[in-house]
Amino acid sequence: MLLWLFIHIVITPQTIEQITNRIDVIDVVGEFVKLKKRGANYLGLCPFHNEKSPSFTVSPSKEIYKCFGCGKSGNTITFLMEHEKYTYVEALKWLAQRYNIELQETEVTDETRTVQLAAESLHALNNFAQKFFSEQLLNTEEGQSNALTYLEERGYNLSTIEKFQVGYNPVQKNSFATAALQQQFSSEILLKSGLVVNRNDELVDNYRGRIIFPIHNTTGKIIGFGARVIGNADKAPKYINTPENEIYIKSKILYGAYFARHSIDKANECLLVEGYTDVISLQQAGIENVVASGGTSLTADQLRIVKKYTGNLTIIYDGDAAGIKAALRGLDMALEEGLNVKLLLIPDKEDPDSYVKKVGSVAFNKFISQHKKDFILFQSEILLKEAGNDISKKNDAVNIIAETISKLNRAEDFTKRQEYIHQCTTILKIDESGLINLVNKFSNNHFVKEEKKNFVAEKQAEASSDGKIIFYPDDAQEKNVMRVLLEYGLNKWDDEQTIADYIFEALEQFRFDNTELEHLYEVYQKQYQQGLQPTAKSLLYQENEKIKSLVVNVTMFPFELSQRWDEKLENIKVSNLDTSIADVTMSLYYFKLRKLKKMFEQNQDDMQQSKNWNETMRFMEIHKHLKGIEREITQQLGTVIIK
Ligand code: UTP
Ligand code: MN
Repeated sequence: MLLWLFIHIVITPQTIEQITNRIDVIDVVGEFVKLKKRGANYLGLCPFHNEKSPSFTVSPSKEIYKCFGCGKSGNTITFLMEHEKYTYVEALKWLAQRYNIELQETEVTDETRTVQLAAESLHALNNFAQKFFSEQLLNTEEGQSNALTYLEERGYNLSTIEKFQVGYNPVQKNSFATAALQQQFSSEILLKSGLVVNRNDELVDNYRGRIIFPIHNTTGKIIGFGARVIGNADKAPKYINTPENEIYIKSKILYGAYFARHSIDKANECLLVEGYTDVISLQQAGIENVVASGGTSLTADQLRIVKKYTGNLTIIYDGDAAGIKAALRGLDMALEEGLNVKLLLIPDKEDPDSYVKKVGSVAFNKFISQHKKDFILFQSEILLKEAGNDISKKNDAVNIIAETISKLNRAEDFTKRQEYIHQCTTILKIDESGLINLVNKFSNNHFVKEEKKNFVAEKQAEASSDGKIIFYPDDAQEKNVMRVLLEYGLNKWDDEQTIADYIFEALEQFRFDNTELEHLYEVYQKQYQQGLQPTAKSLLYQENEKIKSLVVNVTMFPFELSQRWDEKLENIKVSNLDTSIADVTMSLYYFKLRKLKKMFEQNQDDMQQSKNWNETMRFMEIHKHLKGIEREITQQLGTVIIK
């Protein structure tokens, strides 16, 4: 009781919401556990028990972790509480600090304080450096004649330069180092920032004579710099970037995200370009939903930043071979992250920067919308073109494409997958069912591996007997219905009812055999009827341990359904892009079929033990009745073999 009061006085519900909105489970858990991407999830060695092969699974989309070895599971907050032995409040504070969310409370542990201090000093130094460089660019003779003229020649106007806080580091050996030391910044932090280097025991400016582009994190703080030579780079590298340190983590940076975030949200699309200057030019032209990757292939972390704002990513690169290669490398990962990826190449040796200056923003926008091409289709065309008349190369291409499509392995991507198969069939001029089989082969491989592993791990969990819930293969259908209820329950089924309403109605005659699931179903139903809007997440952030681990268990299994969908791909007609209806329908069908199967068995047993003709007749009637229901369902599904 006291604790609750404490929480609510110190950390307001708004702040908690702010924190939970920002939570990135991979980022937080990844701080303590080395995680490797595996399909849509991440896998690592469990930090809660000793193991040699990894069974600790983290799902970024569900924001939960679960160890299939020891059964420990939960969300980001419970992870911090378990792993770092934090209290609930401490865990929130840790997260608030990580995501730069301000708390009224100021008491922090010593350890947190040290990390905080290094990061704070870097932020402070970068802040000072930006002001220094801007001053040099705008208000000194050298800056104006060397750098400002160059920027103006390239077409950047003053307000753009100010918005992006562009600056200039003078040619003199140590003008910045001297100024920073005067401000009491330690040489240690100067070196860490990369702004200064040690040359023969002397602190020397690292970006002498260069134009400085500050790099902001998504909250607007400067975390590093890109420093460009003026004019053509013949001898020196064109850019020098900040080295990795406490606040500059290259794989997590998308240049321009801070300035673009609201526009990305509004446009529901993120444009991705290669360079600093592309971002700045497009922004100046009024195309503001744009970020840059820095020319290298995309990382999962960068994709997750995009995903926080939109599901639509449009990659705009120059038409040269290197650009295309760089773009294609991010593809599979983006699909696994569930992003809709389009690609667009700028023609005639132009890049987005030069092209928008040449044609203007209206024509540029029009060019994007007319020429952006779906990534998978784009890849198909490129591979096909490369293969030419070479049969074996074409064969390779088909395999690559099938594997790519199979990466769309989340239940909700089912419709997309069907569409891709259809369109690629046309591009590749091959038989549709052949491609379906090939795609299934790739995803079944994946499925079988995953399923085997889960099964073995669950058996271990049973042995570990720590009171956690264990699922048997029989429960798959029940689990799956629970999954769709948690996932889509609050969505609309039609104009009259929600998906939850529909499921309640459909299951009126049925029970869950698994008592734990039955209990969760009841809890959900009760909360729903009280108008509480339950979701997997809301159920996860409440106290009851059993419910929490059950929710994790249920939401961590995306595989059963997608495999069956693959098998039935041809027979299902889905008319719109929202797959929730299809997902729910399929899940209910399989649930009912499973129940019917049990009823058949029961009825068969009863029939064998029947004592007279009348009884036998009655059981035959029941059998016929059940058959009728089964037929109805199987007709909807096409042919279904249930073992
Ligand atoms: P670009 O060469 O296209 O640079 O490299 P740019 O930013 O568009 O600059 P302009 O148009 O030539 O003035 C794309 C990105 O690759 C990274 C930078 O992030 C750059 O923005 N890069 C490039 C480096 O990090 N180092 C380099 O030497 C070159
Ligand atoms: Mn460029």
